Amino acid sequence: MEDQTILGIESSCDETSVAVVKNGRKVLSNVINSQIKIHEEYGGVVPEIASRCHVEVINQIMKQALKEANLSLEQIDAIAVTQGPGLVGALLVGVSYAKALSFATGKPLIAVNHIAGHIAGDFLTYPDLEPPFLCLIISGGHSHLVNVKSYQEYEILGKTRDDAIGEAFDKVARVVGLGYPGGPKIDNLAKQGAPNIPLPLTHLDNFDFSFSGIKTAVINLHHKNPDVNPADLCASFENAVTQMLLTNVEKAIQQYRADKIVLAGGVSRNSYIRNEFDKFSKSKNVKVYYPEPILCTDNAAMIAAQGYYDFIAGKRADLHLNAVPNLKLT
Ligand code: KG4
Ligand code: ZN
Repeated sequence: MEDQTILGIESSCDETSVAVVKNGRKVLSNVINSQIKIHEEYGGVVPEIASRCHVEVINQIMKQALKEANLSLEQIDAIAVTQGPGLVGALLVGVSYAKALSFATGKPLIAVNHIAGHIAGDFLTYPDLEPPFLCLIISGGHSHLVNVKSYQEYEILGKTRDDAIGEAFDKVARVVGLGYPGGPKIDNLAKQGAPNIPLPLTHLDNFDFSFSGIKTAVINLHHKNPDVNPADLCASFENAVTQMLLTNVEKAIQQYRADKIVLAGGVSRNSYIRNEFDKFSKSKNVKVYYPEPILCTDNAAMIAAQGYYDFIAGKRADLHLNAVPNLKLT
């Protein structure tokens, strides 16, 4: 089969990113403009500001992505863009831009599901990884345990019934006074503490998750007892959510007789979670995969990678393409 070079565009939340990926596996460029510094002041992502920032930088980011890949727009085979889920105004910037590019160049347009994109972060990290496999997608908006049957077919085994895990990290961090974005700050502070505070774990009968109980418990503990060591609190929170993740992963591995678990999404950058999954890997003889850190959080290379598999499967979008803020994986 001929080589296919895909230009990916991602603008679902607070990162504007454009990337060039060859054959779904090789990153030629992956330019990411994070808006963290801008939203930090407000303690979280302000949707209107996010959209405005995407508009301001997207054209420049696209040019830089082509330059770093050492390619011209004519040498691209197709344009892949995140259609959803995400913030509607933010998504619309990427979608409108991709439609304009497609119209101007005559290149095919591909609409990519952001959650599927996160999974593809692992295809870029592990050239030999192929479906089927079990995947745990843990990000700011999602906590899904998925049976990835093929590059196009997914079966959701479990998901969160309330908060996404990244949301819980971000809220705990805000209350403890660490600010936004909470995940990396909790990750760092927890390294100085010990997981010595007992917290109530929520285990459900099926593969679903629930993180709001643990989040509320941590917040209440902090308010009722301001002397509690924040580093210990963060370490205990990380330990609790990790045990909840591992319980469901272990159940799924047994039920599906799997020999590997693939992690994806922003929270899979967390060093404590990685450590505990490494221990689990050794003790249970299960191989664990994580995207390289830059491919865990939002980026366009993962969108271009999934876009490649959608492209070769014949999926095409047209100029009627619209952003779908609550787009589902299945
Ligand atoms: O995948 P992502 O970039 O965006 C979504 O699709 O949601 O994930 C962002 C989430 C945020 O909640 C952020 O706090 C979390 O990933 N995150 C982390 C770490 N780095 C990012 N959570 C825990 N530990 C980290 N090191
Ligand atoms: Zn994401």
